[in-house]
Amino acid sequence: MGLAQRLLGGSHGHADHSSGGLIRRARLYEWFSAVGFGGFRRRVFDGLVALSGAKPGDEVLDIGCGTGIFSRRAARVVRPGGRVVGIDPSPPMIEYAARRALANCTFVIAGAEDLPQPDASFDLVTSSLAIHHIPPELRAKALAEAFRVLRPGGRLLIADFRPPRNRIANHLVGAVSGHAMQHNPIHELAGSVRGAGFAVTGSGDRWPRLHYLQATRP
Ligand SMILES: C[S@@+](CC[C@H](N)C(=O)[O-])C[C@H]1O[C@@H](n2cnc3c(N)ncnc32)[C@H](O)[C@@H]1O
Repeated sequence: MGLAQRLLGGSHGHADHSSGGLIRRARLYEWFSAVGFGGFRRRVFDGLVALSGAKPGDEVLDIGCGTGIFSRRAARVVRPGGRVVGIDPSPPMIEYAARRALANCTFVIAGAEDLPQPDASFDLVTSSLAIHHIPPELRAKALAEAFRVLRPGGRLLIADFRPPRNRIANHLVGAVSGHAMQHNPIHELAGSVRGAGFAVTGSGDRWPRLHYLQATRP
């Protein structure tokens, strides 16, 4: 387990530490996140919201919302008429996000692999920096759930950490953030998304070390 993961109260019940697991220390996560993005966090997340294609009136589900940064930025864009629901299995993260929620934003304790939302109830499903936190054996189920809750024609945006190829930088990521970030199999994401029934429409990289993937539910 990496230093940051220990500090953030990460837990996963996996002896091999193959997922980032739940984050429990919400305030500390906010601090790490703000420092990690070096003062550009809003700009980076607004860029991801733009990549998601969020527009006024959209109903959005944000998977692994954590303290709610993506949900809050998206909630601004989907006004008027739209709403954002953030889900995360960590109660402290959901409490933190709910305290800062905009009027058209709600937060629910739930895991991506077992969503409480009904079929075909969203126009857009998003997830930022959270897929590597879901245990590997539950990721296919999580993508199947994202597909289920999207309306036909609905969109998916996933953005996650892209580990450095440089050996020293990669080891540093492992020491600070843990195995799941160091070995995040980001190159497998497109295949897994297609496997869940989505049509992949785009992908690319964003500063700092983010990879994103856009898809639609046919
Ligand atoms: C690195 S944080 C990202 C939070 C936020 N999306 C952001 O971009 O700042 C990863 C989040 O995934 C959550 N998580 C862990 N297991 C999960 C699961 N099975 N389903 C959904 N989210 C999960 C963690 O609790 C944590 O809040």
